[in-house]
Amino acid sequence: MDPACPFSLQDELVALLPPGRVLTDTGDRKLLAVDASKLDGDCLAVVRPKTESEVISTMKFAAARGISVVPRGAGTSPTGSALAHGSQIVLDLSAMNRIIDLAPRDMVAVVEPGVMCGDLQSAAEAVGMFYPPDPASAKTSTLGGNVATCAGGLRAVKYGVTRDYVLGLRVVLADGRAIEVGGRPLKSVVGYDLARLFVGSEGTLGVLTQITLKLIPKPARTLTLFATFRDFEGGLLGADAILGAGILPRALEYMDADVMKVASAVSGVSFDPEVRSALLIEVDGSEASCREDAGTISQALATAGAATVEQGDDTEARDRLWLARRSISTGVLQVYGAKRSEDLGVPRGRLAEAVAAIKSAAQSEGAICLAYGHAGDANLHYNFPFNPSVAGAKSAVDRAVQRATAIALQLGGTISGEHGIGLKRREAMRAQVGAYELDLMRKIKTVFDPQGILNPGKMLPE
Ligand code: MLT
Ligand code: ZN
Repeated sequence: MDPACPFSLQDELVALLPPGRVLTDTGDRKLLAVDASKLDGDCLAVVRPKTESEVISTMKFAAARGISVVPRGAGTSPTGSALAHGSQIVLDLSAMNRIIDLAPRDMVAVVEPGVMCGDLQSAAEAVGMFYPPDPASAKTSTLGGNVATCAGGLRAVKYGVTRDYVLGLRVVLADGRAIEVGGRPLKSVVGYDLARLFVGSEGTLGVLTQITLKLIPKPARTLTLFATFRDFEGGLLGADAILGAGILPRALEYMDADVMKVASAVSGVSFDPEVRSALLIEVDGSEASCREDAGTISQALATAGAATVEQGDDTEARDRLWLARRSISTGVLQVYGAKRSEDLGVPRGRLAEAVAAIKSAAQSEGAICLAYGHAGDANLHYNFPFNPSVAGAKSAVDRAVQRATAIALQLGGTISGEHGIGLKRREAMRAQVGAYELDLMRKIKTVFDPQGILNPGKMLPE
């Protein structure tokens, strides 16, 4: 045990739970107190429960002593929502990872929170069903984390976000009481929708211990297209043209030229240097509908000025087209060393305008802005890389981010389309949510967690 930590609390926790559930070594504590925000963290202890009753015991222990608890999935949050500090308990739910029930006739899956999103996707597909939410982190993020942050991802334009698939939850509240909200029916209108209140609440209202998710029949066929353009706006206008032609693809992903350079450097995929933007498009349905959609899309893209359109029919060809897109998020860090990353959303019709204004604002602040992501729902990832050892580089990026956020809000947008608030955007939230509305949110928090011990200091500004 670490001499810096209060032994008695750690000892009590160890005695309370079955052997192996409580981790107190400095290495474990530091590793599991941080997330993808890359901020520093620590904790009093990590509890890794295997059952709901162990979660209940932990919450009762914490409530009785006024110790705060940070629920955690796989720690892929880029906003600091799973970050803990030295006096807190990290409740690591990754060992509650059973798919409890997969029921194609009911069109539901019942899972524990630590199941990886990608594992549910595969399990559902093995029985002819489909779990549409597909965050870029699907292979490394848990469904509990996806629900807690309302993860969006690559198929949201057609299928919606995690919220649209949550039917029911079992939740342990701050005082250790377990509740059940929502259920297994695909439709239900009975009182306030408490299940959805927990979706996106970032661990501030309760600890998810069981999740009932909607599944849909697996589409028979998927087809991928990759189009390139000679100007940065081309890909954005191409996306408009596809939707305008009456096609709703399941993915509609944009990349600008700087992003393509990064993708090329880290994935080995090469692009014509004249290309200024690209669009990755995926449709699904029957064999015939996919072929017909691909024809309509190719035509719309040609009219919108695409330089090239490539089609991937089989899994290997599709994976090749996706390779560049999937390498971006980590690729920017690999190439540049440091970045600020925003996931601003705007009303769909304002996307091209937003990207142009944000890039130009970045430039005038002496920063660069790389734009990529979900053009279908106008939620792009704006990455602002910088070299931390260059004086003034970080502050130029901070100013650029501030201006980018203001531009998105001025256009009627949002400061986060899918990554949420966590620690990093708490203050920025005030620019989007009114004081009275923030107060309503605080009151809701107090109803569920009067002592304020569940992930305090996250999401809601002071
Ligand atoms: C993505 O769509 O690639 C991710 O949401 C972006 C990221 O991880 O920064
Ligand atoms: Zn994304």
